Amino acid sequence: MTATDGRARSGVIDTPRGQIRTPAFMPVGTAATVKAMMPESVAATGADILLGNTYHLMLRPTAERIAALGGLHKFMNWSGPILTDSGGFQVMSLAELRKLTEEGVTFRSHIDGSRHMLSPERSMEIQTLLGSDIVMCFDECPALPADRDRIAESMRLSMRWAERSKEAFGDRPGHALFGIQQGGLDEDLRGESAEALQAIGFDGYAVGGLAVGEGQAAMFGCLDYAPQMLPADKPRYLMGVGKPDDIVGAVARGIDMMDCVLPSRSGRTGQAWTRRGQVNIKNARHADDPRPLDEHCTCPACRNYSRAYLHHVFRSGEIISSMLLTWHNLHYYQELMAGMRAAIAQGRFAAFEATFHAQRAEGDI
Ligand code: GUN
Ligand code: ZN
Repeated sequence: MTATDGRARSGVIDTPRGQIRTPAFMPVGTAATVKAMMPESVAATGADILLGNTYHLMLRPTAERIAALGGLHKFMNWSGPILTDSGGFQVMSLAELRKLTEEGVTFRSHIDGSRHMLSPERSMEIQTLLGSDIVMCFDECPALPADRDRIAESMRLSMRWAERSKEAFGDRPGHALFGIQQGGLDEDLRGESAEALQAIGFDGYAVGGLAVGEGQAAMFGCLDYAPQMLPADKPRYLMGVGKPDDIVGAVARGIDMMDCVLPSRSGRTGQAWTRRGQVNIKNARHADDPRPLDEHCTCPACRNYSRAYLHHVFRSGEIISSMLLTWHNLHYYQELMAGMRAAIAQGRFAAFEATFHAQRAEGDI
């Protein structure tokens, strides 16, 4: 950590594949692509690291095929660091006929119905075959709301799986293994989970089990205590978050890394994120507007195209619509992260936050 400002932290994580400047936002490349973006374009937005998914890649094209082709970095032409999620969370939201036991989870593929198994050992094997730089423990995340007993039982299973994940991961210099804290919105369970993970010992620690329907106020309530339960000298990663205001609030509470499909997914549905909030490009008010999405943005969508053009290509179902809006959204997210890093380094994070909220309150143009 090179700087702190209140609970907000800024620093650099060194990996053999390059540096990760924190706070970092990781674009999601689920199926070995950040949808609608060339990897060099993703890098041009300022991303240092991508996220990939064990669940999707094990089903198609399979981890063994990617390994035979030289690993995920070569396969998708991304030379920077890659973090892979471990699969359990995606099995619970996407797969069919799931069966959970102490051993792991069996399920049917959402693609073709074929039968598969994931366990801590198999997840570590797959993430190793992919060549992931930051490997996530195999965990389970209960949907909220759930009663405390169910959350406690699930968290303790995830902690036993964390121990098996560490054992199966072994000693792999240059590769990191992150533990995942669970425990829902219960402070005692979060504490128990944090202690269990630290007793095992990891290279970084994720806060899991949030942004699963509890709402921002409840999530921030949990982030008021959960990150501080994790070691101050290791990266803290909030999984699956979020909207720009979620991200700013999470960084304010001591989070260093985040990922979310939102900027890329909403780019494909005509939603743009700017300093002034959300813009729906399909709205008729843009049809004759010669101005860019955001006159201060330096992304290709804003430098070279009008709102009228972006509106037209979206309405026409043209592929360039997804490309331009995804680029803009990822650029905006990375600018937000860069702005926070600079503000933390200069000890003006509170002022940054105030400006961020004031600009959004003004609304679009
Ligand atoms: N993505 C979002 N939340 C979670 C979580 O709790 N666990 C895992 N493995 N991935 C996630
Ligand atoms: Zn832009």
